[in-house]
Amino acid sequence: MRDPVLLQAVDVTCRYPGRAQGRPALDRLSLTLARGEWVAVAGPNGSGKSTLARVLAGLIPYQEGELWLNGQRLTPQAYDVRTRVGLVFQDPASQVVGATVEEDVAFGPENLGLPPSEIRRRVEEALALVGLAAMRHRPTRSLSGGQRQRLAIAGALAMEPDLLILDEPTAMLDPRGQEEVLAAVRRLNRRKKTAVLWITHRLEETLLAHRLLILQRGQVVAAGPPAPLLAGRQGPVESWGLRPPEVIRLAGALRRQGLPVPEEAATLQALTETVLQAWRAGGMGR
Ligand SMILES: Nc1ncnc2c1ncn2[C@@H]1O[C@H](COP(=O)(O)OP(=O)(O)OP(=O)(O)O)[C@@H](O)[C@H]1O
Ligand SMILES: [Mg+2]
Repeated sequence: MRDPVLLQAVDVTCRYPGRAQGRPALDRLSLTLARGEWVAVAGPNGSGKSTLARVLAGLIPYQEGELWLNGQRLTPQAYDVRTRVGLVFQDPASQVVGATVEEDVAFGPENLGLPPSEIRRRVEEALALVGLAAMRHRPTRSLSGGQRQRLAIAGALAMEPDLLILDEPTAMLDPRGQEEVLAAVRRLNRRKKTAVLWITHRLEETLLAHRLLILQRGQVVAAGPPAPLLAGRQGPVESWGLRPPEVIRLAGALRRQGLPVPEEAATLQALTETVLQAWRAGGMGR
């Protein structure tokens, strides 16, 4: 059975003020997200990724089309989804508001006027999900970039959103911070079933998603399971202004050599196993 629809955008068009001429930032864009789904969004600079994040989070209005969340129509000019759609940006420093980790996460729920016991429950759960429970009393200024980004995610989670949107959340992080953030989001998607829209330039990060959407000129030009999509069987990845991850290129090269590499093989481990099997079967010139 398919998961029920969480969010639906139908022919949504968004123009920035003062940009009435030319192509709109979102140009009759349509997409559907299921509950609990993890969808990655990739596309070249200026393709409308951040605009999509802002429109879905209710930060900027759209002019045409329809937006539905949980079966409820969100009107173009005014809608309050801030408690239901969380948004995390790329700059870890700009999103911290509290002096300590715990105060920072409590900020949103406090503004909702929730009772103290409920605020405590939410803060604890959010910190546990992002792996910051042991740092709850730490001053926020002492955190690393990866820890700050996980703190921003915890702050969004404490609002208990139906959808968490992350706009290039690892762009400013080193490999370790990048992995910390990816692992935290993976955990909350699995355990709490929060739907995730993960916007990124790093295509290797999209391989973890259930589905990948390619944005170009404000439209979704391709969609599907990430590995086959990036393997280029359904479309020319380079023509989208993107380059497939190394592991996908390697899979393609092995396939062209006649190795039976499955389409969904998107990790070095999976490729290693395929190569070893072929080796043991004597298919590699032994
Ligand atoms: N605040 C703004 N005012 C006017 N035009 C904007 C604004 N922000 C974005 N645009 C324009 O809207 C289009 C889409 O931009 P957007 O930032 O959504 O793309 P993006 O895919 O997030 O790009 P990047 O990969 O560089 O982050 C671009 O043509 C851009 O110039
Ligand atoms: Mg952007």
